[in-house]
Amino acid sequence: MAVHLHLHLHPFIILSSTLLILIFCSQTESYTSSHITLPSIRTRSPPVSISVADHGTTGDGVHYDTESIQSAIDACSSAGGGRVVFPPGKYLTATVFLKSGVVLEVQRNATVFGGTRLEDYPAEQSRWYVVLAEDAEDVGITGGGEINGQGLEFVVRFDERKNVMVSWNRTGACSGDECRPRLIGFIRSRNVRVWDIHLNEPAYWCLHLVQCDNTYIHDMSIYGDFNTPNNDGIDIDDSNNTVITRCNINTGDDAICPKTYDGPLYNLTASDSWIRTKSSAIKLGSASWFEFKGLLFDNITIVDSHRGLGLQIRDGGNVSDITFSNINITTRYYDPSWWGRAEPIYVTTCPRDNTSKTGSISNLLFVNITATSENGVFLSGSKRGGLSNLKFLNVDLNYKRWTSYDDGLVDYRPGCQGLVNHSSAGFIMEHIEGLEVENVNMRWLGDRVRKWNNPLDFRPSSVDNISLVNFHSNSYGQ
Ligand SMILES: *[C@@H]1O[C@H](CO)[C@@H](O)[C@H](O)[C@H]1NC(C)=O
Ligand SMILES: *[C@@H]1O[C@H](CO)[C@@H](O)[C@H](O)[C@H]1NC(C)=O
Ligand SMILES: *[C@@H]1O[C@H](CO)[C@@H](O)[C@H](O)[C@H]1NC(C)=O
Ligand SMILES: *[C@@H]1O[C@H](CO)[C@@H](O)[C@H](O)[C@H]1NC(C)=O
Ligand SMILES: *[C@@H]1O[C@H](CO)[C@@H](O)[C@H](O)[C@H]1NC(C)=O
Ligand SMILES: *[C@@H]1O[C@H](CO)[C@@H](O)[C@H](O)[C@H]1NC(C)=O
Ligand SMILES: *[C@@H]1O[C@H](CO)[C@@H](O)[C@H](O)[C@H]1NC(C)=O
Ligand SMILES: *[C@@H]1O[C@H](CO)[C@@H](O)[C@H](O)[C@H]1NC(C)=O
Ligand SMILES: *[C@@H]1O[C@H](CO)[C@@H](O)[C@H](O)[C@H]1NC(C)=O
Ligand SMILES: *[C@@H]1O[C@H](CO)[C@@H](O)[C@H](O)[C@H]1NC(C)=O
Ligand SMILES: *[C@@H]1O[C@H](CO)[C@@H](O)[C@H](O)[C@H]1NC(C)=O
Repeated sequence: MAVHLHLHLHPFIILSSTLLILIFCSQTESYTSSHITLPSIRTRSPPVSISVADHGTTGDGVHYDTESIQSAIDACSSAGGGRVVFPPGKYLTATVFLKSGVVLEVQRNATVFGGTRLEDYPAEQSRWYVVLAEDAEDVGITGGGEINGQGLEFVVRFDERKNVMVSWNRTGACSGDECRPRLIGFIRSRNVRVWDIHLNEPAYWCLHLVQCDNTYIHDMSIYGDFNTPNNDGIDIDDSNNTVITRCNINTGDDAICPKTYDGPLYNLTASDSWIRTKSSAIKLGSASWFEFKGLLFDNITIVDSHRGLGLQIRDGGNVSDITFSNINITTRYYDPSWWGRAEPIYVTTCPRDNTSKTGSISNLLFVNITATSENGVFLSGSKRGGLSNLKFLNVDLNYKRWTSYDDGLVDYRPGCQGLVNHSSAGFIMEHIEGLEVENVNMRWLGDRVRKWNNPLDFRPSSVDNISLVNFHSNSYGQ
């Protein structure tokens, strides 16, 4: 068996005898990715179809159509379910509640606008959504039209670094400018489908799943203002069996963001999508109180983002069996008030504060990844362990600088050590047990980037059991 081994380590790296280096050339077994049966929405045959216009909407975008829309949804649900149709027009509404069996069909040239007054939303901050399904089954949103949260109306001061937003902090349930309504919420719901719809300008998070099972989000787009904080694309909390595919997400804040607050999250697949964000394109956490397991991210293009693939585990939850495959990433620096430091890949488990437990991260596979970025890969466990069994296979990393932001900061936020001064490196690694790197190329391109002092930056005592096969580190694309 021919072994092609190219280890071009910078002389600065001293491999101490306490570091176990295993070089081998076995064919790697691929991780089994979760194969999820795509959810199907039960529909009546023939389904009931009710137009909101028949329930008295004005469709003028000026008068509130809330009661007419709610009455159409209630009638449709009572009739056993079907479609609630929004014909072309503008529909201004306070919160409407989606009921079991109902699919909203917002047709092309129809826009549903969320209200911008506090009294447009329920009393409890946890129910502030323009469209909210609670304990519902077989529900969805489609139709080719738009749902718009009028997020720009919530900006107090425009700032291209980061807008300053209003706060609806009346009850104390939320703090500072995080007190704004989300756009779409599915809470404790099953068999959810969202497709062929444009979700635009959320005032806060856009599409939020909470304790859902069997959700299929596909062929849809999300657009949020690039300077508005917290306007995440899709947040998936404590939910199982979620499929996201063929989506286009362009947001200020995190684009696809699984979290665990009150229960575990299993089986999430996101594929065939395009993402741009001023924060993380994919982010696990930072809320991470319970397990995350069986996640697959495949065939995703990430452009102009502050961070590509991120794990920000802070609250003691354990993360395992996560695959990132066939992903093309471009990351750059933005204002440091946004989390992210241009890392294409960022894996951290670090207690949020001195009351937090250390969560573990294990069995991560990065395969077929191409990146062009202004900073390197950051992999950090914590002193009490936590990060094990990582594999990088066929990874092509191109480093260059094109913005004028300073480098030299490592970002442990939120909480943990915060921002720390530290020189840049191709890979910064600490507190890891078991790292396998195979067919990985690093290139430093262009005049503004010198090969960083330490292409690989780690203290041997904190990284145990590394295998490097076919690992190249070249300057200036040679
Ligand atoms: C996750 O997916 C696997 C494979 O389809 C399935 O066996 C398992 O039951 C799923 N887990 C949950 C919690 O639904
Ligand atoms: C939508 O509006 C455009 C421009 O006003 C018009 O050309 C098109 O026919 C409309 N489509 C539908 C489905 O109403
Ligand atoms: C939010 O409201 C609560 C109770 O009204 C108050 O104690 C708290 O200081 C407010 N916080 C912010 C950041 O506005
Ligand atoms: C997800 O699956 C786990 C394991 O079966 C279960 O404990 C949890 O309640 C499920 N969550 C939901 C929202 O169904
Ligand atoms: C990858 O996703 C893009 C859409 O973003 C799609 O056009 C392409 O066919 C997908 N590639 C594969 C191999 O599935
Ligand atoms: C994470 O795993 C550790 C070690 O197995 C376990 O003690 C801990 O309870 C787990 N944490 C959670 C939130 O399940
Ligand atoms: C990745 O994206 C960059 C920039 O868009 C492009 O030049 C490059 O060809 C892409 N690489 C792959 C492997 O798709
Ligand atoms: C924990 O952190 C808080 C706030 O930073 C600090 O006041 C407290 O002294 C710390 N406690 C311990 C045990 O370190
Ligand atoms: C990685 O890319 C190679 C070559 O394009 C392809 O054969 C292989 O199936 C890909 N691996 C995965 C896990 O997608
Ligand atoms: C980090 O570096 C900046 C600028 O070089 C300096 O002003 C700051 O004091 C440093 N911070 C720490 C904690 O060393
Ligand atoms: C080293 O790590 C690999 C996986 O990265 C694992 O299979 C192997 O058992 C580990 N060996 C030791 C001695 O810990």
